[in-house]
Amino acid sequence: MRQPLVAGNWKMNGSRDSATGLLKGVAAGIGGLATEVVVCPPFVYLEQVGRLIDGTAIQLGAQNMAREEAGAFTGEVAGSMLQDMGCSYVILGHSERRSLYGEDDAVVAAKTVRALADGLLPIVCVGELLEERQAGKTEEVVGRQLNAVLDAVGAAGIARGVIAYEPVWAIGTGMTATPEQAQEVHAFIRAGVAKYDGAVAEGLRILYGGSVKGDNAEGLFGQPDIDGGLIGGASLKVDDFVAICRAAG
Ligand code: 13P
Repeated sequence: MRQPLVAGNWKMNGSRDSATGLLKGVAAGIGGLATEVVVCPPFVYLEQVGRLIDGTAIQLGAQNMAREEAGAFTGEVAGSMLQDMGCSYVILGHSERRSLYGEDDAVVAAKTVRALADGLLPIVCVGELLEERQAGKTEEVVGRQLNAVLDAVGAAGIARGVIAYEPVWAIGTGMTATPEQAQEVHAFIRAGVAKYDGAVAEGLRILYGGSVKGDNAEGLFGQPDIDGGLIGGASLKVDDFVAICRAAG
């Protein structure tokens, strides 16, 4: 049995004030759930959020990290620093990092290696653009992104992390993949990992992300290969995020 996981990716949103209210509400709402819940605030709020979730069931994650270990890399944040701040998880290869900041498969793979070395659990994001889906290239793109990471860290490495399937056309658009569309790609991802190691594939949690809301989460999470969600916009609203965590549990 894979424990469901719901991670909130706040992206570049929030403030000290909003974090306080949001986390109080979420902590109160998820009590007793079987779902593992993670919040990923911007770097500058990690310390504050870490304090706010202390003693709750919520875990801390970051949205990105440097591929280098330490040193003269102005503006970058090392995985070891995230670990030092109490992060368990780090999101890597989000489509916004890939498209807006030029992170290619090699960079994402290198960051995954670094994250594991720094004792973090990577949430590796994969997903196709709309034109790639329309051209029938979803499996080609997702397979390429997945294999880049698998080749770098092996099945044993990926076993310590999580994969998030986020079709780029569904992110922030309100255009969710149907449960069937998502399931098809999740099954493809699991089969891809099984080529490296069947037991690892069976135990691996694969999250869906892209316009997940309180009212569509249940249908998605009801699919056999969807083990939870990576949530953007709805993770900033207590009621929505709690409803999604409940739907996963
Ligand atoms: P939305 O839930 O806002 O579509 O964002 C999804 C996402 O990118 C999470 O990482």
